[in-house]
Amino acid sequence: MYPIRRNRRLRTNEAIRSLVRETIISPNDFLVPLFVVEGKGVKEEIASMPNYYRYSLDLLQAEVKELWKLGLKSVLLFVKVPDSLKDNKGTEAINPEGLMQRAIKTVKNACPEMLVMTDVALDPYSIYGHDGIIENGKVTNDATVDILADMSVSHAEAGADIVAPSDMMDGRILAIREALEDNEFTDTGIMSYSAKYASAFYGPFRDALDSAPVDVQDIPKDKKTYQMDYANRFEALRETEMDIDEGADIVMVKPGLCYLDIVREIKNEVDVPVAVYQVSGEYAMLKAASEKGWLDHDAVMLEQITAIKRAGADIIASYFAKDVVKLLS
Ligand code: PBG
Repeated sequence: MYPIRRNRRLRTNEAIRSLVRETIISPNDFLVPLFVVEGKGVKEEIASMPNYYRYSLDLLQAEVKELWKLGLKSVLLFVKVPDSLKDNKGTEAINPEGLMQRAIKTVKNACPEMLVMTDVALDPYSIYGHDGIIENGKVTNDATVDILADMSVSHAEAGADIVAPSDMMDGRILAIREALEDNEFTDTGIMSYSAKYASAFYGPFRDALDSAPVDVQDIPKDKKTYQMDYANRFEALRETEMDIDEGADIVMVKPGLCYLDIVREIKNEVDVPVAVYQVSGEYAMLKAASEKGWLDHDAVMLEQITAIKRAGADIIASYFAKDVVKLLS
């Protein structure tokens, strides 16, 4: 006789499938990255990220209100800094009137309950497009960490709820935690980009912020001396455990889809929330393939987001957040 168990019984129709479905996507899963520029009335599409935009502060208000209405309650802010304000040390990063600091206030004014997270790294402020200060042709660690700590305090002063260091310098989580405590920002959290790989998938993001490493003699051409080698697995665990010991409230794996093995492994090991960043290149790939009619955009988008959550993501930073939530409602 045929085996008693027939697995297809639980796949017979949508009612039974939805009853036994293990992974459910909701607006609560998402963190929405937002790109901010100077100016008025600016909403410019990013060439390599179709249907994704940079907003000036006035239009940012309407955007966050719309996100809130859709049930999206957390944003992650990035700024595009004018070339004239860039230097080696990221001086502009700690300007209390800087674009990031004003963006934080703008979001909080427009939508006081919105959770505001901020990117902490020097690259948008660096003339060299690196996440740290360059000395003698190298990206220095400890001097960079000092600025990252000051930058975090500056974001907290402007009203950020959580700072998100994306730089991969050693020891920055402890330095940031201590700086926040010293300045009485005891409730300001840290989401650490703990396992961030040196990835070619960040290309479109660097277009969005004009933040790619410059092609100049004696300047490193890539970020491989600080972001992780994508061949490595144990290193991701070590980085993540160290960041938790140093005070990270949330840890992250980045990029997303190619790294779901790492996500599962970290989720099994740690007891803090795990975020996954589905990055710009992942977004661009699907947009391009669906524009050509080669992939069904919405179906593939939902499959990918579900896979990220199934792998163990508690939080998903994604440029698809709005599209997914609209599709589901
Ligand atoms: C900056 C930063 C990057 C991303 C997030 N923060 C780029 C980089 O490290 O070069 C990439 C995000 C994306 O590709 O969507 N430190």
